[in-house]
Amino acid sequence: MNKANNRSNISLGLSSLATLWLAQLTLRCPPEWHSLIPPLNLKKPNRILVPKSLPVLSYLPQMAKQAPKENQPLINCLIQNESKLHFNQTYSAEDFGENFLKQYGWIKFLGPDAYWHSDILSSGLVLFGDYVTYPEHWHVAEELYFPLSGTALWYHEEKGWATIAGCPLIHHASNIKHSMRTFGEPMLALYIWRGGNLVQKSNI
Ligand SMILES: [Fe+2]
Repeated sequence: MNKANNRSNISLGLSSLATLWLAQLTLRCPPEWHSLIPPLNLKKPNRILVPKSLPVLSYLPQMAKQAPKENQPLINCLIQNESKLHFNQTYSAEDFGENFLKQYGWIKFLGPDAYWHSDILSSGLVLFGDYVTYPEHWHVAEELYFPLSGTALWYHEEKGWATIAGCPLIHHASNIKHSMRTFGEPMLALYIWRGGNLVQKSNI
């Protein structure tokens, strides 16, 4: 396949997935966050990122199987296009160990360094394996999570630990310490950041 064909092939899969991501973002975002979503031409990303795979993608079939029906098209689209997509990780083995890296990763659609550009809002999908702890961390950006598949234990500095199933809004205010743990089911969640440095590595 020549370079131009390869690029258009990546864009096609990416656009299909981004359409489903944007539908979730639009549906889930509270109004004061909604106004920060820029107009997006989903057929034309601002940058093409080199495909990058991660071990955590092996959990996608299970994520699709256990997800509510309405979230399955997005996960199936991830499965169909995973070889064309750029998944990444913020942390290294020195931060949280090798096991964490095997069970963690994200794909970012919107943000300062994402397929579609924004300096004020960042959003994508984050994936976790079935037995993993995302240790306590905090960051300046305010954060929302909407689990789309899987039940997990979530920790919030002021609220303690809670088991959260379904797709509620999980909110972490700026610099609130938080953590997450899966216990038998992998988890896929929509995430959104606003405020502060949107490409900041969390404090751990
Ligand atoms: Fe966070």
